[in-house]
Amino acid sequence: MAASISITTPDDWHLHLRDGAMLQAVVGHTAAQFRRALVMPNLAPPVTDTTMALAYRQRILDCLPADTGFDPVMSLYLTDNTSIDSVRAAAESPHVAGFKLYPAGATTNSDAGVTNIARVMTVLEAMADQGVVLQVHGEVTDDHVDVFDREAVFIEQVLAPLRRDLPELRIVLEHVTTRDGIDFVRGSGDNVAATLTAHHLLFSRNDLFRRGIRPHYYCLPILKRRQHQEALLQAAVSGESSFFLGTDSAPHLRGRKEHSCGCAGIYTAHGALELYAEVFESMQALDKLEGFASHHGADFYRLPRNSGQVTLEQVEWEVPANYPVEEKDSAQGGMAEIVPLRAGETLCWRLCDQA
Ligand code: DOR
Ligand code: ZN
Repeated sequence: MAASISITTPDDWHLHLRDGAMLQAVVGHTAAQFRRALVMPNLAPPVTDTTMALAYRQRILDCLPADTGFDPVMSLYLTDNTSIDSVRAAAESPHVAGFKLYPAGATTNSDAGVTNIARVMTVLEAMADQGVVLQVHGEVTDDHVDVFDREAVFIEQVLAPLRRDLPELRIVLEHVTTRDGIDFVRGSGDNVAATLTAHHLLFSRNDLFRRGIRPHYYCLPILKRRQHQEALLQAAVSGESSFFLGTDSAPHLRGRKEHSCGCAGIYTAHGALELYAEVFESMQALDKLEGFASHHGADFYRLPRNSGQVTLEQVEWEVPANYPVEEKDSAQGGMAEIVPLRAGETLCWRLCDQA
């Protein structure tokens, strides 16, 4: 019989679902694996308040069977114009779990992001007062800063001062990619946590350039050198409650990835748990997967842990070459598709159908 592992049903604390045909194409993958996911607000236009988030949440649910157990948890897009009233509305909604800070220009659909942290200090103070979590894309946007250093510089210039000035604010450093980020979280006490993606655990920047340039390995923050990957791996399997699962699965159409100016984002929702299981197995730490995937995030967000279980079996399966999207790919011509991570390759863990 194949080896297997059962864990409490997990949650994905950082996810891009998009809208329209793309949403329809991807949401089933996440709903099949996770009970909850924190849905990112970087749509065009961005999801800036609770009313917009609840409408978006309903569009997500409308793509799924009526009896779905999937519970989308929404993050709102912080802008220079976010009001104290919208912090209050967010705090009161059971479906909203925080605001996302995108430094303006840092990544996909971040143009409406925050131009200077000083401009949102009163809003951040209101969030701290009301226990609303700040999710952070932790990169500076200054073109003069090397792309591989942008997380470390952001921590030094923005996050550490914010933490010092407003220690009550609860912060998640999303998709942490550096040893600097791990050290910052470890040194910051219970109000600061970080999510870790499967791709930053599995790969280093060498994988971006393995015998050619590989657009499907391009994401932001960009993959870092091996020594940073090792720090992430140690943190993930450490059992420390401040590190938890957030895939940052970010679908883009093939034509927008395989392009002279390709979009940032790696699609992992088709095999998210399987990819994390591979990571934890490689670290001989499968016993730490449950805390990371199912307990620490819920605890940080002060939500109940899930009650069900999922089982992963050590069975090989081949990742499809692509997943179709019911629209035209204007950059490429023809029908649209998403190229998932490890397309055409074999994964060695497989999630069993749930009873
Ligand atoms: O690689 C990324 N893709 N990083 C982000 O921060 C945004 C995301 C997206 O929305 O495509
Ligand atoms: Zn993201």
